[in-house]
Amino acid sequence: MYASKLLPYALFGLVCTSVIAQDPRVQVALTLQNPVNGISTTAEGRLFILYARVDGSTGPQVAEWHNGSDPTPYPDAEWNSYAAGKDPATHLIRTNSQRIGPDGTLWLVDTGSPSFGEAVILPEGPKLVQVNLTTNSVARVYNLGNVTLATSLIDDVRFNPAVGLAYITDAGTPGIIVLDLSSGDARRVLEDDPTTKGFMPVSAEGRLLHDLTGGFEYIYADQHEVSPDGQYYYYQPCSGGMSRIETQYLNEAFYNSSLASVLSQYPEPYALTPSTGGTAIDAAGNIYNSDTDRQAIIKISPDGSWTTLVQDSRLLWVDAMWVDTYGKLWMPATQLNRGTPFNNGSSYIQTPLYVYTIDVGIGPSPIDHA
Ligand SMILES: *[C@@H]1O[C@H](CO)[C@@H](O)[C@H](O)[C@H]1NC(C)=O
Ligand SMILES: *[C@@H]1O[C@H](CO)[C@@H](O)[C@H](O)[C@H]1NC(C)=O
Ligand SMILES: *[C@@H]1O[C@H](CO)[C@@H](O)[C@H](O)[C@H]1NC(C)=O
Ligand SMILES: *[C@@H]1O[C@H](CO)[C@@H](O)[C@H](O)[C@H]1NC(C)=O
Ligand SMILES: *[C@@H]1O[C@H](CO)[C@@H](O)[C@H](O)[C@H]1NC(C)=O
Repeated sequence: MYASKLLPYALFGLVCTSVIAQDPRVQVALTLQNPVNGISTTAEGRLFILYARVDGSTGPQVAEWHNGSDPTPYPDAEWNSYAAGKDPATHLIRTNSQRIGPDGTLWLVDTGSPSFGEAVILPEGPKLVQVNLTTNSVARVYNLGNVTLATSLIDDVRFNPAVGLAYITDAGTPGIIVLDLSSGDARRVLEDDPTTKGFMPVSAEGRLLHDLTGGFEYIYADQHEVSPDGQYYYYQPCSGGMSRIETQYLNEAFYNSSLASVLSQYPEPYALTPSTGGTAIDAAGNIYNSDTDRQAIIKISPDGSWTTLVQDSRLLWVDAMWVDTYGKLWMPATQLNRGTPFNNGSSYIQTPLYVYTIDVGIGPSPIDHA
């Protein structure tokens, strides 16, 4: 059983290394024993990581990386110690993404579901947690219980500082959540819209993924970005096909329920992206998008056309990427498709794992992060 399930990966690995070469521009930044699917850095050199925990391992989800000693749980061990019976409002249940925002604080997106595919603990579980990097303590918790369903997978967050709103993708029940960062009020929009739902299962290493019941794995609205001028919101289901909508419509739909009900008139096709693990946007509005079938990163220009930035056999399911102050693109090669949620509880992830960087020669979008 083990051998027969591993075989397709082994065979593909052989084919893969013979077809896809390594690119010397791709540099090892971090070496890890457990998959990490999120990186954020500060200009001062601090580095935060998110453990995906899809390899059967346990331990903290969010950690700060240190040169020369082990990562430490962040913001502290208690927030990272959730277990049945602990308060779901004040512990990270399953963090799906983390990023430093334009305000210089660290934002953690907690699905509120104890494991991939498990029901969300409502209403206290799903939340956006803001951590102050000066005090290393939680500054604010935005509860998302009113805009989350048991089948939701609150996925990722982006910001539109000019209007004080955040946008959050729901990859479990297709939709976008618009959150007012001042009041904490939130609204779901574009629910079950073709642009948030897509129509194909997720694919990696040339194969469609399956969930724990044996059915195809669908992951809905997932990767997203805001253009540096704040005009457009770009988003896609994990299986690809990127749309964009002018943020003015998203923002107005937050206040105007008539507009919210007809919002599906406003998205437009943007780029025919492949099945993707993660994205990042730079100061010029280029979006980097990982191709989980081809072990590549594509670069989408603001006009929606794309080219391949790099293809390298080591870039196996690159998840959430990060553009740092020095013009480097960070690429965590997570091997997520080989993890427990997509292989009926078994993990075929090979260690060590690596986070790579490549020079892109341009820094982050200032409204994304400093
Ligand atoms: C860790 O080392 C890297 C590479 O030498 C350096 O750029 C970074 O600033 C260091 N970070 C810390 C927190 O010392
Ligand atoms: C973070 O904490 C520092 C020190 O207490 C404070 O000056 C700063 O305003 C805080 N930042 C945010 C965004 O809350
Ligand atoms: C959720 O909705 C209830 C009922 O409308 C309201 O009282 C509560 O404040 C809301 N919670 C949040 C976090 O918005
Ligand atoms: C997953 O594994 C369980 C127990 O090992 C087995 O009963 C079930 O049939 C498997 N499901 C699929 C879809 O292979
Ligand atoms: C709300 O949106 C509807 C539909 O676009 C529009 O007709 C109406 O004028 C808007 N209401 C306000 C107060 O802007």
